[in-house]
Amino acid sequence: MNLADTELVNGVLQDGGFHQTAKINEADAIFINTCSVREHAEAKVHSRLGNFSKIKQQKPDILIGLLGCMAQNLKDEILEKKPYIDLVLGPDSYRRLPQILNNRSNFEKNIVDTKLSRLEVYDGLFPSRKEGINAWVSIMRGCDKFCTFCIVPFTRGRERSRSPQSIIGEIRQAIENGFVEITLLGQNVNSYKYENYNFTRLLEEISAISGLKRLRFTSPHPSDINDELLQLIADKPNICNSIHLPLQAGADRILKRMNRTYTKKQFIQKAQNIRSIIPDIGLTTDIIVGFPGESQADFEDTLSVMETIKFDSAFTFKYSSRPYTKAEEFDDQVSEEIKQKWLEKVIALQKNHTLLRNEELIGEVVEVLVEKESKKSPDCWSGRTDNNKWVIFEKEFAKIKDIIPVRIADAFGVTLMGQIEED
Ligand code: 5AD
Ligand code: SF4
Repeated sequence: MNLADTELVNGVLQDGGFHQTAKINEADAIFINTCSVREHAEAKVHSRLGNFSKIKQQKPDILIGLLGCMAQNLKDEILEKKPYIDLVLGPDSYRRLPQILNNRSNFEKNIVDTKLSRLEVYDGLFPSRKEGINAWVSIMRGCDKFCTFCIVPFTRGRERSRSPQSIIGEIRQAIENGFVEITLLGQNVNSYKYENYNFTRLLEEISAISGLKRLRFTSPHPSDINDELLQLIADKPNICNSIHLPLQAGADRILKRMNRTYTKKQFIQKAQNIRSIIPDIGLTTDIIVGFPGESQADFEDTLSVMETIKFDSAFTFKYSSRPYTKAEEFDDQVSEEIKQKWLEKVIALQKNHTLLRNEELIGEVVEVLVEKESKKSPDCWSGRTDNNKWVIFEKEFAKIKDIIPVRIADAFGVTLMGQIEED
């Protein structure tokens, strides 16, 4: 989402007559787009800001701008402790950027705008993208789910969806510019709702756009995945067989405290139902360990869901206490030491499952979209399968952006090796 927002900011600035520099020391203004989802993400920004303050000492006229969720979350602290930051803009305030830059001399002190909007979806603005394979297209912003660990509803505000006309227009343009894969983005992408369009109807219309080789989306909430959507994914060859299904935790008690709106059993049934409708689906997940009050037995429920489903891959996190959230107020926080131990355990288990799932493909022929030269060898391409696994294979006659049948010969960790299948 932040990559897409950065492309959007780039687009807004280009429309306003500004351009990106190749080197940071040639810049008149530096913007950093930030994430607040975990403390670690914020720590990285603080360290980067330290570098910017040195640049500012040498070049006092440079403008330093902090954009995104941290702006929303930490504006007071930043203005007090980091006075070299000139501009603090929250995620709904980017349209103002050119006007602010053009009128800079009229502002005496820092500019702060972190108002959240119920309406802003950045319709009518075209993100400036580097050439490539995949274009991220934001279809909705914000989140109304209020999981008790999550800061997003506070930093990004209420759910709102873009009009289908504007989304489809942007996708047509991206395809004209050479992109072959589109990934639809939203904090809760399948909560999409615009007049009489729901997510499934939008997906169906987008999949019919000519020239679109692959269509992906992220991230859905498990509760908003229904059979109608699954059937559409199964029926349309260009909608990729890949679903991110964030589990977060396995124990009912913890899921309830997280306000995730499903039980362990319902989650497992959902995953099994997905696999029965789309047998070759790639299922990935997010897991948090050490949520307040989580016991050893609760943690083992997470492992047991992982064992039952055997996800293709997982993003795994230690719980990080976030301001404004309900979970921050819980007084039974888990120690860092236990969180670390549990994290290592889920990582090790997931590694086994990823390998297992990848080994299942050995001997199979899969369709791979050629994306780039492999880092392993200039003679090899690297590309992804429909269900989102990286494959390396000898280039032969294949070209970037082709979809090619590849027979899988071997699986190493997250990467598959194969050869082009000639008919
Ligand atoms: N601590 C740890 N992980 C978190 N996530 C969101 N909030 C937190 C938090 N406070 C994780 C969730 C979510 C992913 C984007 O980030 O797993 O799905
Ligand atoms: Fe955060 Fe939950 Fe919304 Fe996802 S669904 S953005 S985890 S509040």
